[in-house]
Amino acid sequence: MATLSINNVRKQYGAVEVLKGIDLTLADGEFLVLLGPSGCGKSTLLNMIAGLETISAGEIRIDQRVVNGVHPKDRDIAMVFQSYALYPNMTVARNIGFSLEMRGQSKAERDTAVRRVAKLLQIEHLLDRKPAQLSGGQRQRVAMGRALVRDPKIFLFDEPLSNLDAKLRVDMRTEIKKLHQRLGTTVVYVTHDQIEAMTLASRIAIMKEGVVQQFAPPQEVYERPANMYVAGFIGSPTMNFVRGTLSAEGDRLGVSVGRDRGLFLPLPETPDQAPDQAGHWLGQEVILGIRPEAVTCHDPAAAAGNPALARVSCRVDVLEPTGADTITYIQLNGQEVVARIKPSDRVTEGATADFMIDMARANLFDPKTEQRI
Ligand SMILES: Nc1ncnc2c1ncn2[C@@H]1O[C@H](COP(=O)(O)OP(=O)(O)O)[C@@H](O)[C@H]1O
Ligand SMILES: [Mg+2]
Repeated sequence: MATLSINNVRKQYGAVEVLKGIDLTLADGEFLVLLGPSGCGKSTLLNMIAGLETISAGEIRIDQRVVNGVHPKDRDIAMVFQSYALYPNMTVARNIGFSLEMRGQSKAERDTAVRRVAKLLQIEHLLDRKPAQLSGGQRQRVAMGRALVRDPKIFLFDEPLSNLDAKLRVDMRTEIKKLHQRLGTTVVYVTHDQIEAMTLASRIAIMKEGVVQQFAPPQEVYERPANMYVAGFIGSPTMNFVRGTLSAEGDRLGVSVGRDRGLFLPLPETPDQAPDQAGHWLGQEVILGIRPEAVTCHDPAAAAGNPALARVSCRVDVLEPTGADTITYIQLNGQEVVARIKPSDRVTEGATADFMIDMARANLFDPKTEQRI
């Protein structure tokens, strides 16, 4: 187990800078997920931690020791890739134990270690098979076994579930989470899948074009995204972005939205609301970010007890039942908004219905910089 600290790390390929000053610090036992679209630099960063890529500038420390010049095999790190690259002619047992064999461990030591890992991954019955005789999921387990057997300080995973079908991916995701709970080893995990990031991470680093946009626990990234890019990347259906103007009615601040800015949505009074900040934004264009689940059918009982729930009347365009809930496209004074309502809610396509917006969960963004206000 180990701490990891990445200080102002850069990577250049010729004139192109693909990592532009990455700063991340992990406590012992954390599960960091590097999340972002293809090409944003996730694998490059992971490979630099592993020692498979050189570091153009900055510093990587494992347990306080600078590892920039340390050979991969001396970093005490184990890596699982998207392609498992098992040795086809070796049995599962030998595949798992091979790194120990290379380090000169005895057969007895190896057998003990292999059995321990096989038990952990529930592949004891597969130990005598060759990779060709395994399913995709089983091969993935063997690849993980190969990493686990070394009992490293840090595990690195590069999109380990991308080649599996949907059902298996979900199962393996849970297995990885259980494994981490049991072993408590520090993990850096690369994915472009926001659900994997949300479910596995203790903290997520969301990347775009070689820059970390936000580094925070999953719920914070979800509830308080640093900018519109992060807000749009996490959550499905994605967050609604409603154009509006910050305005005041009496002593209440709110956002006026829609046609002629005719609909006033009051913001909840928060004690930490900085008056200077509000003064600066008064009368300015803002983007109101609202998650679909913060827009629900009007419920008089709930609304009476919670002043943050703004009541609005909207035309319903389309209903998309998913079983657990119904994704609903509505017109909020001329702007399309997605709501997440209950299957039991009685609304009809083409008709107007009352909804409520939980303004306590609203986010405001600067339309120019797209940063959170
Ligand atoms: N060896 C290389 N030479 C030049 N450019 C590279 C090399 N490896 C990766 N890149 C570029 O660096 C960027 C980041 O790549 P990568 O880290 O693989 O992204 P990700 O894993 O997030 O999909 C991409 O634009 C990619 O084309
Ligand atoms: Mg990659």
